[in-house]
Amino acid sequence: MILKAVLLVTTFVVLSANAKSIQKGDQDWWKHATFYQIYPRSFKDSNNDGNGDLRGILDKFSHLVDAGVDGVWLSPIYESPQVDQGYDISNYTAIDPMYGTLDELKELIATAHDNGIRIILDYVPNHTSDQHAWFKASENRTEGYEDYYVWVDGTPDQPPNNWLSCFRGSAWKWSEKRQQYYLHQFTEQQPDLNYRNPKVHEEMKNVLKYYLDLGVDGFRIDAVLYAYEDEQLRDEPRSNIPGIAPDDHDYLLPIYTANLPETYDLVYEWRKYVDEYSEERGLDAKVLMTEVYADLNETIPYYGTRDGSILGAHFTFNFFLVKNFDLNISTANDLQRIVNTWMNALPDIYTSNWVLGNHDNRRYPTRLGVENKDGFLMLLTLLPGVAVTYNGEEFGQEDGEVTYDQGQDPSARDPAIFEQVSRDFERTPLQWDNTTNAGFNEGNKTWLPVSKKYHDLNLASQLDEGEISYFQNYKALVRKRKEDPARLGSTDIWAMSNDTIVLKRSYEDKHIVVAFKLGWHNSTTEETILVPGISCENGTIALTSADSKQKVGDVVSVQSLVLQPHEGLVIDVAC
Ligand code: NOJ
Repeated sequence: MILKAVLLVTTFVVLSANAKSIQKGDQDWWKHATFYQIYPRSFKDSNNDGNGDLRGILDKFSHLVDAGVDGVWLSPIYESPQVDQGYDISNYTAIDPMYGTLDELKELIATAHDNGIRIILDYVPNHTSDQHAWFKASENRTEGYEDYYVWVDGTPDQPPNNWLSCFRGSAWKWSEKRQQYYLHQFTEQQPDLNYRNPKVHEEMKNVLKYYLDLGVDGFRIDAVLYAYEDEQLRDEPRSNIPGIAPDDHDYLLPIYTANLPETYDLVYEWRKYVDEYSEERGLDAKVLMTEVYADLNETIPYYGTRDGSILGAHFTFNFFLVKNFDLNISTANDLQRIVNTWMNALPDIYTSNWVLGNHDNRRYPTRLGVENKDGFLMLLTLLPGVAVTYNGEEFGQEDGEVTYDQGQDPSARDPAIFEQVSRDFERTPLQWDNTTNAGFNEGNKTWLPVSKKYHDLNLASQLDEGEISYFQNYKALVRKRKEDPARLGSTDIWAMSNDTIVLKRSYEDKHIVVAFKLGWHNSTTEETILVPGISCENGTIALTSADSKQKVGDVVSVQSLVLQPHEGLVIDVAC
């Protein structure tokens, strides 16, 4: 029933927005995809300079095939001074030599496609580097480039208003050369582009076209919520969040610098552009995924209008499990609420997505408890729609250890805030095996230190298909996402107690049940639960967490299921 409804609605959307492409290209390939984020600098270093690179990704490509992922999103690989690890781009259409060459990117796209894997690139439209030719021309008032950035009059000691950068302090920087302020919502080396200038739209569409012509399958759109700002430059009000320092971005409510109505229109404009691009050429859908950290009511419209008459991103990242679930205070009830709030807010015509981590947030085994990581993986992968994996998550990599002196994150270059704010911990090199530098390279340097945990925690130790391990579970779950009929069915989630959660996916008489006792409340006692909404007595264990006493293939009662603290089970039920 539900499946039918989804198909009907999808047909409606596609027909109205993109009629011809239906017969030609696959518009739906991404809807149940597992996307895998590669943070290139930390993935695999092929030339021992301490930085991961494209050749390294090619060398390790068989791992992505083995993992079974459908698409790979690469964090920026473009020419950049690397002030913000590549999110400060000095040339959108050149590859940074640190990462390799354009030919290597082409080789990667071809290799991926040969293996049925899509390539998604990072698109950073809000700002460039201050080393970009456009900024230099704009600062010099070169004809045609004057308004490429947000320039405002003022005096060196008086910024135009109180707006704050996401990375602390005023969002304005005085240019001696131009005798004006420019806006930077991130570091001062990342000036904001001015989307009130039609030429900027044109330039940035050309960037999309350049990579679409190379055959990429979509874009992750960085920090798009900040694309437009209030034209009247009004001061922002205080957030009144207790304990926030006056230079912290959260000190103000970003009502004039984020999620302006024009910003949604910009995303809709890009969606139209990529849809037309694939339609004209009879290609599969080119997917847009927007990065937006905001309230739900500001987040959902990035998908498009509620009735689907105008489409935006194919999905906008669902960061609510990352931001709103806190190991110290949250309960299973909170988990249920976070999932249901998202599902209820998202119109049925749109595809859900689930995220537990990325290069900007602490790794989830560290954040949510190492003992809980299997259970969270089961939930992440068996909730409906798209699942996103941050590299290393597939084998349970935890945060690394980084001292202030070793840190590289520009947003945390102050010892007082380093531990709390730095994103270096989740960016340490990937732990491939237990050889020197965890197999990241064979050199004597790495851009961030390799975590000491790598001796025990590495991919190689989990490759045995005959043993239960986190990676083997990951593979099985990714497979289940592709094959199990119940993956397309209805979704129910219940908090059974303070710390036990049950997820049920059902399609006709097939059910997948995830039963997970998070285990930080009442954590020493076992719990017996009755899985709701199932009429038969038994199910078969499909997967277990690492320390479970249950065995894959065992038949268990779902009417009286015993769970140990931190135990996660995936159970197949047919009735
Ligand atoms: C979001 C990116 O994920 C983050 O790493 C970066 O610092 C900011 N956008 C600025 O581009």
